[in-house]
Amino acid sequence: MSQFIKWPNTFCRAIIFFQFIRFIQADWESWWTYEGISGPDFWGRLNPRWSHCSKGQRQSPIDIDTSTLLYDPYLEPIKINGDYVRGQLVNTGRGISLLVDRSTTSSGDKHVTISDGPFSYQYTVSNITLHFGRENDRGSEHTIDGRRFPGELQLYAYNSQLYSNWSEAKREPNGLVAISIFIMVSGHPGQVVTLNQQQPNAALKQITGLLKNITKRGLSYTIESLSIMDLLPSSWKHYVTYEGSLTQPSCHETVQWVILNRPIYLSSYQFHMLRHSLKGDGHQDNFRPTQPRNKRSIRCNIVYENLGNSDRNVVDEQHHSSNTLMSTIQQVR
Ligand SMILES: *[C@@H]1O[C@H](CO)[C@@H](O)[C@H](O)[C@H]1NC(C)=O
Ligand SMILES: *[C@@H]1O[C@H](CO)[C@@H](O)[C@H](O)[C@H]1NC(C)=O
Ligand SMILES: *[C@@H]1O[C@H](CO)[C@@H](O)[C@H](O)[C@H]1NC(C)=O
Repeated sequence: MSQFIKWPNTFCRAIIFFQFIRFIQADWESWWTYEGISGPDFWGRLNPRWSHCSKGQRQSPIDIDTSTLLYDPYLEPIKINGDYVRGQLVNTGRGISLLVDRSTTSSGDKHVTISDGPFSYQYTVSNITLHFGRENDRGSEHTIDGRRFPGELQLYAYNSQLYSNWSEAKREPNGLVAISIFIMVSGHPGQVVTLNQQQPNAALKQITGLLKNITKRGLSYTIESLSIMDLLPSSWKHYVTYEGSLTQPSCHETVQWVILNRPIYLSSYQFHMLRHSLKGDGHQDNFRPTQPRNKRSIRCNIVYENLGNSDRNVVDEQHHSSNTLMSTIQQVR
């Protein structure tokens, strides 16, 4: 009898043990955070495949020190083909991402490609990730002269000329590009409120409007149609570019970054919605600290004369800094 009682006990323990192992294996990929013992300082040690996070010398994000920018007259505007995408809006528990569906059918043009600019290949948009903080004084991953912005939208694309998908491309040379757009709070005190450019971004509004359907980690919601064009600021001609990495594990150093010189805007209420969506997971900041630039050069096509240009009529010279992000550069003549 005693044996009969003991046996299930051991059996249960074994089951629990194996379940635990399975849990670890299944969850290994997501076992990292932005704080504490699984935070950014330890990513490289959590998993041997993430060693780049600690050993890499070309990591992202970085601080963009505008006194070291190199002006490159050959940097053309970026070309974006297509407009609408379909995808899953996911609450990852650490942030909000839109995983773009891979176009499979001929029913409509639901994929968007990026080329030209500093890129030698054509890249297919695959993923949009939002970074933000607990308060308005932080949230972006990249900083400009040490200044952090309330949010940063990262539009990731993979090299679809050389590789068949994101997972393959992220490990390979020239695999990925990321276009980074800072998000500012519209109508925030200290900013000029009358400008059209400071209206909340329409496509971002569409995303924040759906957050109520993904209030918990792991939940997702299908967006049938989102305009990438609407997500971009009024002009994306002027930017900064450098070679870096993914800002999350595995931290692969295969990303050509482009940081646009114009922000997009979101209302305080929508920022609140974003923060609220991570409430169950501790309402944390979700940006990685800036990494050393080391020997990398940061190029740009921003010239002082370009500031405002098309929008000059609506922008008082004094307020350039609220409309474009970088206004001074070291020009190589
Ligand atoms: C989407 O981007 C995030 C942020 O870089 C990354 O962690 C994730 O693996 C990407 N997922 C897909 C399916 O592209
Ligand atoms: C990505 O492409 C590689 C190479 O073609 C293939 O082996 C792999 O299964 C693909 N992965 C996914 C997630 O489709
Ligand atoms: C999304 O959330 C809203 C408000 O909670 C609800 O009315 C709506 O039915 C939800 N939609 C889906 C498809 O779950």
